Amino acid sequence: IIAAAIAGLYVTKRITRPVEQMKEGALQFAKGNLKARLAVPYTRELSQLAVTMNQMAQNLDEKIEAFKNRSMELEAVHASMQEGVIAIDQDEKIITINDAAAKVFDLSAPQLKNRYILEVARNIEFQKFIEKALATHKPFDDNIVITRDNDLILNIHSTALYDSLKNRMGTLIIFYDITRMKKLETMHKDFASNVSHELKTPLTTIKGFVETLQGMSPSNSVKDRENFLKIIEQNVNRMIDLINDLLSLSRLERKEGTNIQFENQDMETLILAAVNTCHTIIDKKNITINLDCPKDLMVMLDPILMEQAIANLLDNAVKYSGKAGQVDITVSKKDEAIEIVIKDQGRGINREHQSRIFNRFYRVDRARSRQQGGTGLGLAIVKHIIQYHNGKIEVKSQRYKGSSFIISIPV
Ligand SMILES: Nc1ncnc2c1ncn2[C@@H]1O[C@H](COP(=O)(O)OP(=O)(O)OP(=O)(O)O)[C@@H](O)[C@H]1O
Ligand SMILES: [Mg+2]
Repeated sequence: IIAAAIAGLYVTKRITRPVEQMKEGALQFAKGNLKARLAVPYTRELSQLAVTMNQMAQNLDEKIEAFKNRSMELEAVHASMQEGVIAIDQDEKIITINDAAAKVFDLSAPQLKNRYILEVARNIEFQKFIEKALATHKPFDDNIVITRDNDLILNIHSTALYDSLKNRMGTLIIFYDITRMKKLETMHKDFASNVSHELKTPLTTIKGFVETLQGMSPSNSVKDRENFLKIIEQNVNRMIDLINDLLSLSRLERKEGTNIQFENQDMETLILAAVNTCHTIIDKKNITINLDCPKDLMVMLDPILMEQAIANLLDNAVKYSGKAGQVDITVSKKDEAIEIVIKDQGRGINREHQSRIFNRFYRVDRARSRQQGGTGLGLAIVKHIIQYHNGKIEVKSQRYKGSSFIISIPV
């Protein structure tokens, strides 16, 4: 009996120990440690069970890893998207939101998760869009304006979201920032209407005087005729100037970003050439030009364009100076740039106009500069030429005290 009892105990131990051990291992699996492995016992049935369970754990582990990788990939795509992406549920709560979308609401993505979209997006147009999106199964899109310091224009799309059982679970909203595009569109429209207007004004004058001349009787004085012809000539010249400036601008725009071929150019020669192109108006207004430029200062640039830029600035300096005024042109070599300053003592420019005078057709005093024959394209051309040289231009000016235009070109 004792022998049988000992044998019995031995057999029980042989069975229960491995079962205990397997239970331990299974517990590890249950805790999520799928890298753990069960010890394989000697008994055939138990060893098969252990091998199968290990296999199962390994398969599960691989699947979970693959799933994790995929979700990380998706997360990365989601986060790096330029477009804003928001998924909301039927209760209008945010399920996911990416950084681009969160930025529109001036918050970070984690701050926004699980919050009600309407509480975050305090914008009537946006709220109406969401209500419409949740009420329909069809995708649709719209442009909305988010009003704030710098208004944002968003092109926004919505698509219905369904779960795996095809139940409606919310809506996916994707939006693109089209502010810049819209701005460019407006700029182009304004430009076209400005050009038409600027061309129409002299044409109307020309037409009027041609008709007057045609209707004149032989008794009218020759002097009148000459006067009218002079006005016609002035207006034709104005149109030619305008068209030349427009051509310059479009040529420059096409040039930007292309292969630049600069030449080594002596600065003093270049500036004297620019002064020479303006000599008529300089003499007419009796303006003194003082040039301070180092001898033999060679700079790599496009000489024709740079001469045009300096001539435009000089033309302004003289045009907006009083009679017998003074204009100083100073060229100096800084650390990594050449600086050219054109300084006048003329009427100056109020601060509120200073950032806008480089825009096409912008003139501080429209009526007066039209009288003086300006098109309002001069500084726009200068800006493009300086940009083409990777340089910078700024203006310092005080009303009635004069203006300085400062160009700096990297060397
Ligand atoms: N040196 C200056 N002093 C005062 N105002 C200036 C000066 N330079 C430019 N401005 C102002 O900036 C505006 C834009 O200058 P811009 O050279 O682009 O046009 P414009 O001189 O009117 O015409 P144009 O195209 O014939 O040069 C001018 O109309 C003028 O009001
Ligand atoms: Mg000008």
